[in-house]
Amino acid sequence: MIFEFCLTIFLVGLTIKATKRPHNFPPGPRGLPLLGYLPFLSSWDPQYPHKAMKKISEVYGPVVGMYFGPSKPIISVCGHEAVKEALHNEDLDGRPYIPAALGRTFGEHLGLMFVMGQFWQEQRRFAMRHLRDLGFGKTSIEDQMTDELGDLIKDIENESELDPERIVDLKGIFQVSVINILWAIIAGERFQRNDPKFQELLRANEMMFRAGNPVRGNIPIPAFVLKHFRFAREFIGIKSELIKPFQKFVQVTIDDHQQQNPCEGEARDFIDVYLKEMNKQKDENPSTNFTNKQLISMITELFGAGAESTSSSIGFAIIHLIRDQQAQQKMQIELDQVCGQFFPTLNHRSSLPYTEAVLMEAQRCSTIAPFAVPHSAVKDTHIQGYTIPKGSVVLLNLDAVLQDSKYWKDPEVFRPERHLNEDGTKVIKSDHFYPFGLGRRMCLGDSLAKNTYFLFTAALIKKFRFEPVENEPLPSLNPKIGFTLGYQGFKAVVTPRS
Ligand code: HEM
Repeated sequence: MIFEFCLTIFLVGLTIKATKRPHNFPPGPRGLPLLGYLPFLSSWDPQYPHKAMKKISEVYGPVVGMYFGPSKPIISVCGHEAVKEALHNEDLDGRPYIPAALGRTFGEHLGLMFVMGQFWQEQRRFAMRHLRDLGFGKTSIEDQMTDELGDLIKDIENESELDPERIVDLKGIFQVSVINILWAIIAGERFQRNDPKFQELLRANEMMFRAGNPVRGNIPIPAFVLKHFRFAREFIGIKSELIKPFQKFVQVTIDDHQQQNPCEGEARDFIDVYLKEMNKQKDENPSTNFTNKQLISMITELFGAGAESTSSSIGFAIIHLIRDQQAQQKMQIELDQVCGQFFPTLNHRSSLPYTEAVLMEAQRCSTIAPFAVPHSAVKDTHIQGYTIPKGSVVLLNLDAVLQDSKYWKDPEVFRPERHLNEDGTKVIKSDHFYPFGLGRRMCLGDSLAKNTYFLFTAALIKKFRFEPVENEPLPSLNPKIGFTLGYQGFKAVVTPRS
């Protein structure tokens, strides 16, 4: 009897705590004691958490507050005004504790994406400055990009010739070339397309990204549970067995650089630059943040972000153009008129408004990072007048902005013309278009990504005609879920254009 009474009091206490919200907390659905609202999320959309959050927002408003677990506030932000305000609020520049992310950085707060404060500012500033000098966003690596593109085109041509119906499997085909461009900047090397070790790394990288989940990753599962229960690790996307070979490969690359003694010669790539800084700081600053582990963590993140996102964007653009043959032809006509018999270069870009509009529209319709990277509140702050308690996880729904019917007429329709002025000669820059985020946490690789995305997609469309395979469903636009969204593998009839 006493036990039952105590249990009832305990459960009532828990329920009150679970349903009690801080003063001025954003409106939102209430959940179960201990579990919060998480078990109900999939009832809004069983597959895609960003769509579920958007539907919840239609009921509660642009800023929604809820709990996952007994005490972890999750703030979902959907409308453009609220998302833009949050992206520019420096109190929201933190990153939450995400066990799956820590699993990639030796269990320590290292790397670039999930660190914050002074450590983040120092490492981001250093990376930005040197990656820019080494070619991010510069035409100086255009030759490298063109070489990679040449190899990719040869590969597609060979595959197309080998098949009597010219059907080519385009699953994962863009990744090697895209990563080679980044790897030349980071390590001064390129991978052979068919190198089995490299293929293994790419596969491991893709599996890590697909295993991640921007919502589940935030569940506050205690470290001891994660340590002892494999299912708990898998549920939130920790794949330690995949990261180890990757870290080992990066370490060997760093060791090779060290043996070549970069400290005396001119730095050739990012690893050289970082090793020089490590060496300098070792003597001057005993508590330096420039360490071997930090270099490995940074490279792992850059490789992951670079390999997946840009090649997914190229893949989605090709899928949209297979599904919309008219847009593909329009783009080809423009490319032929402006570039003649040559491949498009970065200098052609401003004279290719339709091509630019196609690229923007593919990014708008198929968001790669629907929640950006989760932010967190470093202190109590506000969004749209609501109080956001310190430590809240803030999910900024970029996809909801890019799909909002308030700013985009028929948002579900692929229509490149919406990004052009009336006579189609100029691209209209919209205030509501920011697939790379905004503010201080904005994507660090946006300039490299934009150039690669443009050069590859434009050259492929100029060189080939991509058509659906007869008697097969059209390539799917439903993304593969993961830390970022990727395209499903697809096949197409690929014919060289004369
Ligand atoms: C089309 C391709 C890409 C898209 C759409 C994209 C988008 C994004 C977005 C939305 C964010 C989060 C911004 C925020 O949290 O507010 C982000 C962060 C980041 N991206 Fe990208 N990205 C792309 C390519 C790349 C590439 C090629 C690299 C590097 C090689 C890269 C490196 C990063 C890094 C390091 C961050 C974390 C920045 C920080 O936390 O300070 N991204 N990206």
